[in-house]
Amino acid sequence: MSLGGIVVAAGRGERFGRTKAGVEVGGIPMWQRATRLLEAAGAGRVVVVGEVPGGVAGGARRRDSVANGMAALGDGLEYVLIHDAARPLASTTLAGRVVARLRRGDVDGVIPVVPVRDTLKRVAGERVEGTVDRSRLAAAQTPQGFRFAVLAAAQEADSDDAGDEAALIERAGGSVVTVPGDPANLKVTYPEDLAVIEALR
Ligand code: CTP
Ligand code: MG
Repeated sequence: MSLGGIVVAAGRGERFGRTKAGVEVGGIPMWQRATRLLEAAGAGRVVVVGEVPGGVAGGARRRDSVANGMAALGDGLEYVLIHDAARPLASTTLAGRVVARLRRGDVDGVIPVVPVRDTLKRVAGERVEGTVDRSRLAAAQTPQGFRFAVLAAAQEADSDDAGDEAALIERAGGSVVTVPGDPANLKVTYPEDLAVIEALR
């Protein structure tokens, strides 16, 4: 299996208050932790997208950053793992689950998911319009794994924004399956997330 890795470490960090690429967890910059994770998961070459030493330039949207990462990896790879630098607690066990499912060879994408914990409401301003059935909802994490050529084609197929790369493949009609994620695989989104993540590390 030829496997490449992309760490997405660009973006503006608007909710965090500053760019997140250089933020350290356990004394190690998050982009470096993410790189080690993908290497440990079997990625032969890992590209970091963002303003870090050796990194390639990010794009305006996450999907643009991923496109830059794919261009830097070049063609010829069978599979690619894509991981948020902002998820510093992702374990090799978790990444291994994604790779093992990908390795079975019957799907285009594999994503780790966790159940949604809170009751979800549809709201309009202050007003509650209804409650969403949670049983068929899941929260997506990274690392996500894809057939490289299918993701490249999905990138070409449309230019709309996407929350993650799986969404591009879903829209293009490809097959994406889930594996169990890890509730501890939190993302640094707001400043207060960092304290929780340090406590869990
Ligand atoms: N990311 C990226 N390029 C972008 C946007 C996001 O590489 N144009 C990366 C971030 O570095 C992060 C991951 O995608 O590792 C998840 O994005 P998010 O947590 O939303 O980071 P930001 O977009 O920087 O934060 P915000 O949405 O609050 O501005
Ligand atoms: Mg964002």
